[in-house]
Amino acid sequence: MKLNEYLPVPAAIKDIVDETPDTKTFILQIKGRSNRVFKYKPGQFLMISLPGYGEAPFTFASSPSKDGKFQISVRRVGFLTNAMHKLKEKDIIGVRGPYGNTFPLDKMEKKDLLFIAGGCGIAPLRPLIQHVFSTRGGKNRKDYGKVEIIYGCRMPKDRFYKKEIKEWMDEPDTKVYLTVDEPDQTWDGACGVVCVMFPRIKLNPKTSMVFLCGPSVMIKSAIRDILKLGFREQNIYASLERYMKCGIGKCGHCYIKGKYVCTDGPNFSYTQMKKLGITS
Ligand SMILES: Cc1cc2nc3c(=O)[nH]c(=O)nc-3n(C[C@H](O)[C@H](O)[C@H](O)COP(=O)(O)OP(=O)(O)OC[C@H]3O[C@@H](n4cnc5c(N)ncnc54)[C@H](O)[C@@H]3O)c2cc1C
Ligand code: FES
Repeated sequence: MKLNEYLPVPAAIKDIVDETPDTKTFILQIKGRSNRVFKYKPGQFLMISLPGYGEAPFTFASSPSKDGKFQISVRRVGFLTNAMHKLKEKDIIGVRGPYGNTFPLDKMEKKDLLFIAGGCGIAPLRPLIQHVFSTRGGKNRKDYGKVEIIYGCRMPKDRFYKKEIKEWMDEPDTKVYLTVDEPDQTWDGACGVVCVMFPRIKLNPKTSMVFLCGPSVMIKSAIRDILKLGFREQNIYASLERYMKCGIGKCGHCYIKGKYVCTDGPNFSYTQMKKLGITS
């Protein structure tokens, strides 16, 4: 269920985690009775506002929890996000949402799953990965087949959720492949863009589902290469980021060829992406 879609409600910062030199994860909880009606699904996003600094969309970076706490991972890029990085525990921010569609959760059941993330693109995929792994409260692991996760970032220090990713490596029937564009002295793993890891994929391309998020250049090249491996376009989903203002299909900022990314997306199958002209 949604709160009043036009009206931000106050949410308290419960904790802040430094993920990378320019990204912090905020653990939030909506104050008062609204907390009980605030429900969202993996893949959706919300609008965060700070008086005097404006409002912007952020993806939910954690799967829904019983106590209503949720996480957003915020990269410091400009006016609002710089101000957010100065916030402390117990500070209050405005929240409205949730908005957008979820991933095809029913279609994923019993399937092998491939997740491909670049940089902060891991944030929208994390609630879905947590949903699949029983250790993260989803209690769903048995409902899915094998899981493979490919996560690339610029440098080792730019990787999000380092501790949790180690836990993912210990999940049953799961493989995690990490790569960096620019290795440093601490790194003895793979180097290069996410596509360099594709020869390691062991999943059956005909039946597996693929979920991607990252810079648009990464999404395009990764889709081009996984299609060559035989993955089916109707089983490939990407989470797209477009400039947004209202988040509710009114302002037209996110409009592409008859679709609003904020309400019809942000998650689209490759079949839908082709109709929107977003192809490799
Ligand atoms: C559906 C969706 C989900 C998002 N999820 C996250 C998230 O989980 N974490 C995160 O850190 N960021 C996320 N973003 C991007 C985030 O909304 C922008 O970084 C934010 O609006 C920047 O605000 P600012 O005032 O700090 O930057 P500004 O001072 O407004 O601009 C600084 C730079 O950021 C770019 N920018 C501004 N607004 C956007 C925007 N809406 N989309 C893309 N680039 C923008 C500008 O072009 C400029 O280069 C998401 C965007 C969308 C559309
Ligand atoms: S953000 Fe306003 S229509 Fe999508």
